[in-house]
Amino acid sequence: MMQRREPQSAVFRYGTESLSLPVEVFVLLRDLIVRRTGVYFDDSKRGFLADKLSEGVASLGMTSFLDYYYLLRYDTDAGQHWSRLMDWLAVPETYFWRQPEQFEALARLVAPAHYARHPGEPLRIWSAACCSGEEPLSIAIALTEAGLGNHPWEIHASDGSPAMLQRARHGRYSERAFRQLPIALRDRYFRACSDGTWQADPGLTRNIRWTLANLANPVEIAPLASAHVIYCRNVFIYFSEDAIRSVVKVFSERMPETGILFLGASEALTRLGVNFELAEIGSGFAYVKGGQRQRVEALNGSMPSQADAAATGKARTA
Ligand SMILES: C[S@@+](CC[C@H](N)C(=O)[O-])C[C@H]1O[C@@H](n2cnc3c(N)ncnc32)[C@H](O)[C@@H]1O
Repeated sequence: MMQRREPQSAVFRYGTESLSLPVEVFVLLRDLIVRRTGVYFDDSKRGFLADKLSEGVASLGMTSFLDYYYLLRYDTDAGQHWSRLMDWLAVPETYFWRQPEQFEALARLVAPAHYARHPGEPLRIWSAACCSGEEPLSIAIALTEAGLGNHPWEIHASDGSPAMLQRARHGRYSERAFRQLPIALRDRYFRACSDGTWQADPGLTRNIRWTLANLANPVEIAPLASAHVIYCRNVFIYFSEDAIRSVVKVFSERMPETGILFLGASEALTRLGVNFELAEIGSGFAYVKGGQRQRVEALNGSMPSQADAAATGKARTA
């Protein structure tokens, strides 16, 4: 059985054996990982990476990270090992109604404008690193609460980790996932289970299609990236700048002219020299293609006042 590691030397012990991550192997491994997944570990993260992978590597019966590197690089079954690696690297930190102003911007401004311009055309939304599903379900709640339940919309929800996607498909959540969602919404869209967890209403997931997709693989994401609205939140914080540029290039090539890209609160594209600029929609920030900012921000003029919204019972605030 593996014992605790010594972080500075990135050395692990299990049984009488030691498993270490020497600098040269760390560099080989992290360069391979960033090429394949976009996720980047800088020099200060050597111990962290070893920590993330050591148990899994040991479970493969391996005694060295170099062997694991060769497995990922050359094994005929490498695909399944990459899938497991995505599970080990996943940071499953998410919750319902995270940055609600970005859901409100969609439901109160972007979606109504879309239906006004293209009546009957489905609004396509992509949650690009959906983790265990809280983000796409929040989108579905916001649209339904805005009275758009009968309008055509489809949410594509993807993640690179098969384990996360399985959890998302299952739709069962602990109390902790609801820490930001108003209780009335939890009670409206989830059923309390006897073990204290909550099951998502099937009506809520009806328009959600779950897909396994690696953001660092342009072929996998190109079809999804033609969405009118992309939520790609709290995943670029783990990516190298080059990896972010490559992903955003696919978005830029595939999204419609006035497509809208929501990132996480601590993520920015401004220094990366990409063809996106920051726009304010309602009280939420988004990225839009270069030259489209004024066109997209014109949506703000169509925002109903809080009083109008309350009168029609169609808007929600967090
Ligand atoms: C912190 S969660 C973000 C969840 C959600 N978007 C949010 O903001 O609450 C990060 C997710 O990114 C996923 N991820 C990391 N690298 C990825 C990649 N290359 N392709 C797709 N998903 C990836 C992880 O599996 C994890 O589920």
